[in-house]
Amino acid sequence: MNKTIVFGASGQLGQCFKKLAADANLDFFIFPAEGEADILDTAALEKLFAAHQPVYAVNCAAYTAVDKAEDDPETALKVNKTGVENLSRLCSKHDTTLIHISTDFVFKGDVSSPLKESDAAKPISVYGQTKLDGEKVIPILLDNYFIIRTGWLYAEFANNFVKTMLKLGAERDELKVIADQVGTPTYGIDLAGFIIHIIKTDSTAYGIYHYSNEGVASWYDFSKAIFELSGTDVKVIPIPTSEYKTRAVRPAYSVMDKTKVKQTFGLQIPYWRDSLAICIGKLKQQNQVL
Ligand SMILES: NC(=O)c1ccc[n+]([C@@H]2O[C@H](COP(=O)([O-])OP(=O)(O)OC[C@H]3O[C@@H](n4cnc5c(N)ncnc54)[C@H](OP(=O)(O)O)[C@@H]3O)[C@@H](O)[C@H]2O)c1
Repeated sequence: MNKTIVFGASGQLGQCFKKLAADANLDFFIFPAEGEADILDTAALEKLFAAHQPVYAVNCAAYTAVDKAEDDPETALKVNKTGVENLSRLCSKHDTTLIHISTDFVFKGDVSSPLKESDAAKPISVYGQTKLDGEKVIPILLDNYFIIRTGWLYAEFANNFVKTMLKLGAERDELKVIADQVGTPTYGIDLAGFIIHIIKTDSTAYGIYHYSNEGVASWYDFSKAIFELSGTDVKVIPIPTSEYKTRAVRPAYSVMDKTKVKQTFGLQIPYWRDSLAICIGKLKQQNQVL
């Protein structure tokens, strides 16, 4: 079977792969222990590739602290560009297909219709710029790659907006949430499932793809749905971005056009609220909804 190494396996998306691999007995996945798979450690990477000769490398590893990146651009660039460059070189050497995860933050978000793969990327944050720099090194070094841009990722694992809202909702009677930034919440399990489909079908439809769940929501809509589905009684007040200052600027519009991914892979993508209900159900089972 198509041996696949997952980098960043202990992060949010990495844990989605672990969960799907465990549930379906997918024994072609290799989840290296932390320390064995630092994408900045070329010697460790060489050892891993030589030992396993993977058919696929899935890169979930990234510097994802969007606000912190504004004050530490060097580290963000190292992980998000040099790390990707290291992986690409090894993939080229070992004839491994790279499946790399990127972000809606490569766009400025100053549009009002869904973003296509062919639209010009114009990052407005250090994180977005370093992720774009990482995307750009891949085609220079490799022909067999998939770059999958996603946005607003959440799952029952690690820290994310859903878990933050549930925690705040349990502590407070009232919350203010931004209502003038729109995108589409994306369930990590759905995204990991799509990538497993690429691997299982040996797809050679290489290139850049946009993948999120279906539909459109503001952070306000997303939070309201989280509270409705979890049965949390909290008043949510919509506010403009100007009332919630963050170190990094976020795109106002992040909705992605998924025509290419749906047509190429014959996918039916779940609607964001349906997937959110599944995730909240899992969190309830784990007693993570108070
Ligand atoms: N989260 C979102 O809303 C979102 C939206 C769009 C796109 N994405 C992209 O989706 C991908 C997965 O994101 P995520 O939410 O799963 O992020 P995450 O939870 O922050 O996971 C990233 C993982 O990468 C690891 N990592 C950092 N530096 C590394 C290095 N030098 N070598 C190996 N591993 C390293 C981190 O380990 P430590 O924790 O130990 O540093 C962490 O386990 C990323 O490419 C991200 O840019 C995320």
